[in-house]
Amino acid sequence: MNNIISSHREDFPLLCGTDIAYLDSAATSQKPQCVINAEREFYEQLNSNPLRGFYDLSMAATSAYESAREAVARFINAKSTKEIIFTNNATSAINLAAYSYGLSFVTRCDRIVVSIAEHHSNMLPWRMVAEKTGAELVYMRCEKDGSFSDEEIERCITRSAKLVAIGAVSNVTGARVPLERIIESAHAVGAAVMADGAQSVPHMKTDVQALDADFLVFSAHKMLAPMGVGVLYGKRELLEKMPPFLTGGEMIDSVTTDEVVYAPLPQKFEAGTVNGAGAYGLKAAVEYYEKIGIDKMEQRERYLTGYAYDRLSALPHVNIIGSSDPDNHAGILSFTVDGVHPHDVSEILNGDGVCIRAGHHCAQPLLAHLGVYSSSRASLMFYNTTDEIDRFVESVSTIRERMGYGK
Ligand code: ALA
Repeated sequence: MNNIISSHREDFPLLCGTDIAYLDSAATSQKPQCVINAEREFYEQLNSNPLRGFYDLSMAATSAYESAREAVARFINAKSTKEIIFTNNATSAINLAAYSYGLSFVTRCDRIVVSIAEHHSNMLPWRMVAEKTGAELVYMRCEKDGSFSDEEIERCITRSAKLVAIGAVSNVTGARVPLERIIESAHAVGAAVMADGAQSVPHMKTDVQALDADFLVFSAHKMLAPMGVGVLYGKRELLEKMPPFLTGGEMIDSVTTDEVVYAPLPQKFEAGTVNGAGAYGLKAAVEYYEKIGIDKMEQRERYLTGYAYDRLSALPHVNIIGSSDPDNHAGILSFTVDGVHPHDVSEILNGDGVCIRAGHHCAQPLLAHLGVYSSSRASLMFYNTTDEIDRFVESVSTIRERMGYGK
């Protein structure tokens, strides 16, 4: 463990205040004290409606909110804060793009390519676009290890492709997708890419300019920040030509009974009162990442994933889904235990104080494609420890016996 950072658990009040082993960070991450303090500070010292008032308090709330946009732009290396749209979560960010970009620019002559590994959030909005426009919908199928072959990429991303929806890291297999390669193929045929970064942005450096991403979404709550804030990154030229999705307060320049002039970016896409406190918490989370270093966090997560993979894969009757290379799991280990339903696995682990997720993980087509209808999933973040992993593996090792199977 030389050169690997510590767990920084002392920064996380919930982890210090309980005896649980929290292995469900792919569902939501724990929050450091600085993020909790920032959200509280907003309500205690800045609370007023951002972007509305001309009095000092409201202008301070606006500055706090906009400073969060600057932090996010810096975190993913966006060219401009105008390319950062705050939404409620990653799902609403994808829906915004689907309703606005999809329904405006995809036609029945076009093809929409959706990877079979997508979370329902990056699949169903594009299915809606296909249904409403008559566009062809094609599923790009992954291998058992979660990878995509060149042949499959070429089969799907053809000249009629207009939009490609792809997650950077699968929330089921943890497989890292070759996003650059897919974006390059999409751009070669003039298609835009919606990259779902929900499981990648919190765990590895993201550079939207280097990726040449058209759209990239992620959720604040999976990256140490509060629930209720999502981010849609979009290339400025795309966002400029897209119509608003939601209409209402604060997204206009002027309204008469006959005419509406919409506000410029990013306000055009942020109708209604925003989540000022949540965004301010997200800013604190970005600063926390910057203080520790996301590369160092990722290095620790790789170490923990390798440790967990080796121990879990050594257990008889336990089957890990996805790659046999722990480095291709990005902190996510989905597994089945022969003869035991994943809900029972989760319940037994809960009894031992271990929190994991069980079920279809909002990715039913992927599970069906892999021939697994439900699974258990442990997911890690840098704040986890090898002790927690030991506790998890020891609990899993007793499950079959506790379910009445012989030793
Ligand atoms: N999308 C989150 C997960 O995969 C909730 O668990």
